[in-house]
Amino acid sequence: MGDMEFQDVVRHRKMVRNYSTESVDPAIVDLSLHNATRAPNAGFSQGWAFLVLDTPDDVRRFWVAASDDIDHPDEWLTGMMRAPVVILPCSSKAAYLNRYAEDDKGWTDQDEARWPKPFWDMDTAMAALLILQTATDAGLGSCFIGIPPDKDAAVRAAFAIPDDFDPVGVVTIGHHAPGEGAKGSPTRRARKPVADVVHRGRWGQLGGHQASPSA
Ligand SMILES: Cc1cc2nc3c(=O)[nH]c(=O)nc-3n(C[C@H](O)[C@H](O)[C@H](O)COP(=O)(O)O)c2cc1C
Repeated sequence: MGDMEFQDVVRHRKMVRNYSTESVDPAIVDLSLHNATRAPNAGFSQGWAFLVLDTPDDVRRFWVAASDDIDHPDEWLTGMMRAPVVILPCSSKAAYLNRYAEDDKGWTDQDEARWPKPFWDMDTAMAALLILQTATDAGLGSCFIGIPPDKDAAVRAAFAIPDDFDPVGVVTIGHHAPGEGAKGSPTRRARKPVADVVHRGRWGQLGGHQASPSA
């Protein structure tokens, strides 16, 4: 299991939206979860949790809660629903506010204005990437998707997700079925050249307000 070179994992990882029903070795799921807990995280807060759905009943319950019309699935949903494993990486803002109120951090007011970015979601997203990469390394397909805002309550209710944890999205894992299935955005858009997105030393003219060329 998992003997690809790191560069091959990075290059081969892509979102898979067309799965077969072939089962996934539970050891790979376990490894992906162990790897997830190696993700970098602010203050070693580890304010994350992973809801694992790996039975046909649980997986179906997820798609019922997360979809508009599971009885008339489009190509995307048909391909995605076959994934035998669904993982919901969840983040806890409260865990971070509490952690940073500890003595070695000292943000005892727990003022949310102190947070430059929502580290709880960032850290959980980094953990999700490790799950995706572990699946790729094991020769499996995987995909990260968001939960539509109008389905959030139903998904929480279906699995009794506690109020202080937020699913940041969903990771599907399974074997790639023959054929591409529903097409993702990369079929409609080109990858930006590195030179277009990297700025070395400075970005624009120093000493003035910068208007982004793309604005
Ligand atoms: C935060 C996030 C949300 C995404 N949501 C969806 C989604 O709802 N449906 C989907 O098919 N793909 C979704 N994707 C996958 C992206 O379309 C995909 O990562 C992007 O097009 C780049 O392609 P690649 O990951 O295959 O290289 C999402 C990816 C991320 C990171």
